[in-house]
Amino acid sequence: KTIDDLGDLRGKRVLVRSDFNVPLDGTTITDDGRIRAALPTLQALLAKGARVVVVAHLGRPKGAPEAKYSLAPVAARLGELLGQPVALADDLVGDSAKATVAALEDGQVALLENVRFDARETSKDEAERGALADELASLVDAYVSDGFGVVHRKQASVYDVAQRLPHAVGQLVLKEVESLRKATDDPARPYVVVLGGSKVSDKLGVIENLLGKADRLLIGGGMLFTFLAAQGYSVGKSLLEQDQIDNVKGYLATAKEKGVEIVLPVDVVVAPEFKADAPATVVPVDAIPDDQMGLDIGPRSAELFASKIVDAKTVVWNGPAGVFEFEAFAAGTRAVAQALVDAGRNGGFTIVGGGDSAAAVRTLGFDEADFGHISTGGGASLEFLEGKTLPGIAVLEG
Ligand code: 3PG
Repeated sequence: KTIDDLGDLRGKRVLVRSDFNVPLDGTTITDDGRIRAALPTLQALLAKGARVVVVAHLGRPKGAPEAKYSLAPVAARLGELLGQPVALADDLVGDSAKATVAALEDGQVALLENVRFDARETSKDEAERGALADELASLVDAYVSDGFGVVHRKQASVYDVAQRLPHAVGQLVLKEVESLRKATDDPARPYVVVLGGSKVSDKLGVIENLLGKADRLLIGGGMLFTFLAAQGYSVGKSLLEQDQIDNVKGYLATAKEKGVEIVLPVDVVVAPEFKADAPATVVPVDAIPDDQMGLDIGPRSAELFASKIVDAKTVVWNGPAGVFEFEAFAAGTRAVAQALVDAGRNGGFTIVGGGDSAAAVRTLGFDEADFGHISTGGGASLEFLEGKTLPGIAVLEG
């Protein structure tokens, strides 16, 4: 069911679960992509005259209020983007929340304080989550699920509350699912996946699943060093997950069996320490000095990666190729982003998934319109690509 199926919403109080888990520097939002992505659903509801109550989390507070995780910066930014004030309740389901919701007029919006300030939100105990879901449901008349980044979490505001109210799927979740399905259901080929980010262990499921589906798998980021180590290279002080080496050896063998091309860098940018101004040197992958760490893929690798991406008809990119936050180690990530843009111009459908690569695209100055889809999901888009059932989506279908 979509928002239109909820009927006449004038005067109705609608709870919207959004994912406003944005990166903060103090109280400054450094990437507001998730807030902007939430606007279409909120604007559609407001235009229908609904009284919109948004519930969201920020960070991982331990079930009690913590000032640094307040949604105050989000309320302010959301108000700027919507062009109307966004009232922020001081609590989630207490007196302040009740009064804030009661004060809403048609076409107005309020935000409840961080839902993870209540330990019941993330409880494994269904009864505990249910008690919170009951309280949330009692504040409103209907529920819209639009926090794609959290649909992989079985949590009170994502899952349990949907069982208690007339519910609908929001536009962001719809768009995410439609776009990501282009990679999971019969992708146009060649289908190329570029993985990066720091850890192999975060991507185990997705790698296993993709080995049966993708035509090429390109490995960059911190995780590439575990792949290099599995091939017998010494990686100096680079990130290395010793306990994943056997898994990686298994992946390399499976890829060979299934005819999936695994593309690893041929050179890397190394430095003696993890610092923006550390002296950077390019070395071949078989000559990483013992006292240096790899912080980006090298220029020959960037060219190699680009050549494997530009002719793709489906590309999924998850995880930066290097430490793009430091200019000296940003070239690999920039080259991957540019190759996706070029693949898009050649008629390929490109998907950028995962918070870090989406942030990289924006901070490196690319135009979001040059990509087929920039996912707001981190873990959620990975689990979707793994083919897992996501509780926050399954509950809407029930
Ligand atoms: C995310 O940032 O990926 C989502 O907001 C989910 O956050 P979580 O991993 O803390 O559940």
